[in-house]
Amino acid sequence: MIGRLNHVAIAVPDLEAAAATYRGTLGARVSDPQDEPDHGVTVVFVELPNTKIELLHPLGEDSPIAAFLARSPSGGIHHLCYEVEDILAARDKLKAEGARVLGDGEPKIGAHGKPVLFLHPKDFMGSLIELEQV
Ligand code: CO
Repeated sequence: MIGRLNHVAIAVPDLEAAAATYRGTLGARVSDPQDEPDHGVTVVFVELPNTKIELLHPLGEDSPIAAFLARSPSGGIHHLCYEVEDILAARDKLKAEGARVLGDGEPKIGAHGKPVLFLHPKDFMGSLIELEQV
């Protein structure tokens, strides 16, 4: 059911420093920071030949990654995003298998303008999983 790895998201306490590390030390192609007020994050996109890395920094109050950074002040992998062809079919299959879909279970429009859902980390070996319909 799941397809390509769309991105790995890393929560970072210092976006400029993280972007500099990916651009300089790791020699990757790195975007300018982009505010995503609907998602409570500022994002830097790191373009790799086969996938993307998203460096996430909290934006505004009630950012969904604020609690994560409070627990992991030096940052860490926040979620993995897998592509699916049909997000509603994927959701229904996952629910039938007993997996927990976060929120109200309805897809939201994600940072790339495509429908996304998040799955409970406790059902997936401690990894928060985002599904994105492509
Ligand atoms: Co994501």
